[in-house]
Amino acid sequence: MAERIIVNEVGLRDGLQNQPRLVSTEQKLAILEGLLAAGITHVEATSFVSPKAVPQMADAAELFARLPRKDSIDYSVLVPNLKGYERAVAAGATSIAITPACSEGMNRANINMSLEQAIQVAEEVMRKAKADGVNGRCYLATAFVCPFDGPTDPGVVRALAARMLEAGAIEIAIADTIGAANPREVGDLFASLAAAHGAATFSGHFHDTRGLAIANCWAAAERGIRKFDSSIGGLGGCPFAPGAAGNAATEDVVHLFEGAGFDTGIDLDKLASAVGGAEIAVGSGLGGRYLSWRRSQYLRRAAQRKSA
Ligand code: COA
Ligand code: ZN
Repeated sequence: MAERIIVNEVGLRDGLQNQPRLVSTEQKLAILEGLLAAGITHVEATSFVSPKAVPQMADAAELFARLPRKDSIDYSVLVPNLKGYERAVAAGATSIAITPACSEGMNRANINMSLEQAIQVAEEVMRKAKADGVNGRCYLATAFVCPFDGPTDPGVVRALAARMLEAGAIEIAIADTIGAANPREVGDLFASLAAAHGAATFSGHFHDTRGLAIANCWAAAERGIRKFDSSIGGLGGCPFAPGAAGNAATEDVVHLFEGAGFDTGIDLDKLASAVGGAEIAVGSGLGGRYLSWRRSQYLRRAAQRKSA
């Protein structure tokens, strides 16, 4: 039987947080409907952040209350601090992710905290989640390069991962926030993390700013990582990290792993239709490489029919 790859769809959060056009709760639910129809089972639905900082996420509680519930769907939400954690739990979240970065500059820009403060808050949130029976995941942002401080020392990432696991995190998502990592360093970092804590403890979150997100997913997969964040149509980017472009496109990630003999449980045809729905919601063209190829095939066949 083919080995499973879990695709964690983050388009509704990482994807929409950076969109200039405000996407309504209804439109978010419509995008989600397309994703679920395609077989997506893991969704980062929203973030309980300051609505002043990120107006796109101001409807977090309302959206969370209206998510279609099925036992097979795992919804998680992002929280930046204790207040966000409390808002998320009050809204009914049972799976949350905290987002400290591995660098001083990014923590200051993103959550107005020093690195040590951000890690202490994250530890507190992880301890609280464990005590409350909530699944606590931890992102480690800027794990390769920080837009303010430059390259991140892999030793710092390893030390922070160990601290977060000690505090009770059930999973660490290693994030290339500005899409600056290369597959060799991705492979090396995941190899050392997997050797220390087991590959199943980690997931990969790659942005495609310089075109290497898919190669980085593969480098991590070769080190045993089986869970990846991605964003429908390649939406995404952090408003507080200059130069951060979209996430790895979900359709490219599915195409990669299905082609390599893994099982994602996701139907590429239906996913392509879901991208169309997301394009309407954000008011602009989307789509990773797989989709541009697919559309070019469609146009080629249409032209052939016309000339036949
Ligand atoms: N949700 C909603 N409101 C929040 C909040 C949260 N999680 N955390 C703080 N606030 C409110 C406070 O209650 C306070 O409100 P007031 O002005 O009405 O009194 C205000 O925000 C300022 O609080 P403070 O603790 O001083 O926060 P800050 O101004 O230092 O901002 C964050 C810190 C974390 C709230 C803010 O930077 C943020 O939301 N960042 C999100 C970044 C993000 O989403 N990045 C992309 C994903 S990685
Ligand atoms: Zn991201």
